[in-house]
Amino acid sequence: TTATPLNRALGLIREVTDFPEPGVLFRDLTPLLADGAAFRAVIDALAAAVPPDVDAVVALEARGFLFGAALAASHGLGVVPIRKPGKLPAVADQVTFDLEYGSATFELPADTLHPGRRVLVVDDVLATGGTLAAAAGLVRRAGAEVAGAVVVLELAALGGRARAGVPVEALAVL
Ligand code: PRP
Repeated sequence: TTATPLNRALGLIREVTDFPEPGVLFRDLTPLLADGAAFRAVIDALAAAVPPDVDAVVALEARGFLFGAALAASHGLGVVPIRKPGKLPAVADQVTFDLEYGSATFELPADTLHPGRRVLVVDDVLATGGTLAAAAGLVRRAGAEVAGAVVVLELAALGGRARAGVPVEALAVL
């Protein structure tokens, strides 16, 4: 069968053993991002998965920024970056959460999300789901609603979909 542009794009994801630490199989999306046709195919596929009545995209540092910003622009939506600590000049709220390797803190920028907004969370990879759950918590504490989340790649064995606590659409599931 002929590979679709999306399948070709997903085939560019590279596996790297023992990164960022021994025993971890890292999925590297940089070859996909570096290929114009592949990046476009992925953004188009993510766009097709945007739920109705979304009025903003929330993108997660750092790799979620690349997909979230492109998706938001393609839909004429604003993008809210949820950031690692110490980067934002004005912080509305923060949350600390466990990762597959270590822990992390996320911060929501001030004056971005308000009650009544309905947002889509965008990231590159869903692994344990801790990252999506933390982001969804920040959105909800701001009074906004999470319509769902989209990711390029879901690593299903880690059970992240259940932990995320939001409806997740993934372009590829491994
Ligand atoms: C990776 C990935 C997701 C998250 C998924 O980010 O980009 O954001 O982990 O993991 P989880 O589902 O187990 O929470 P990372 O923390 O490596 O940050 P980065 O994008 O800044 O490199």
